[in-house]
Amino acid sequence: MAKTPELSRFQDEHERMLEMLTSYQCALMEQDLGLARGCAESLLYEFRVHRGVEDEVLMPLFQELGLEAEGARLELFAAEHEKLGRLALGLVDEVGRLEGLDPAGQRDCLEGIEAAIGFKHLFDHHTKRENAGLYPALGAAVSGEQLDEVWCRMDAVEERLRLGLGPAPAPVSIPRTNDQTL
Ligand SMILES: [Fe+2]
Ligand SMILES: [Fe+2]
Repeated sequence: MAKTPELSRFQDEHERMLEMLTSYQCALMEQDLGLARGCAESLLYEFRVHRGVEDEVLMPLFQELGLEAEGARLELFAAEHEKLGRLALGLVDEVGRLEGLDPAGQRDCLEGIEAAIGFKHLFDHHTKRENAGLYPALGAAVSGEQLDEVWCRMDAVEERLRLGLGPAPAPVSIPRTNDQTL
């Protein structure tokens, strides 16, 4: 799905969060609970910020402009945000469960990897829904000064949410073949 140029910087967050999830799973493949915790906490933190900006700025704007359509209704986005928030928190809890084992073995870590599948499927579905119905409609309806004003509000909400959540979890650096880091 092509990105909406006007809002692609924010849409890029979707890929970044999916990468955090994959890194969480890879960490558990290595039975590295410290790294898995960092990835799960980063994912939860970034998801809370991202959905907060969508909930407070983009969704109300989408509704005000009368852009809701079949498959792109506010109640669907809201329900998915609620469920994804619970699932992301569940990943942090899952790491806590594994940390309580003495020690966590391969089979235990496999359960942690499988625990991420629900989030992954719903997040993928949700991102496709947003990329098909939310972002293109907003990109077509908002431009120029209004778009600048929307970005200002998004940035302000993001800043307030990050302040409220406290410092972001320490960045996790994950060795990968293409040498990217989160
Ligand atoms: Fe969303
Ligand atoms: Fe999103």
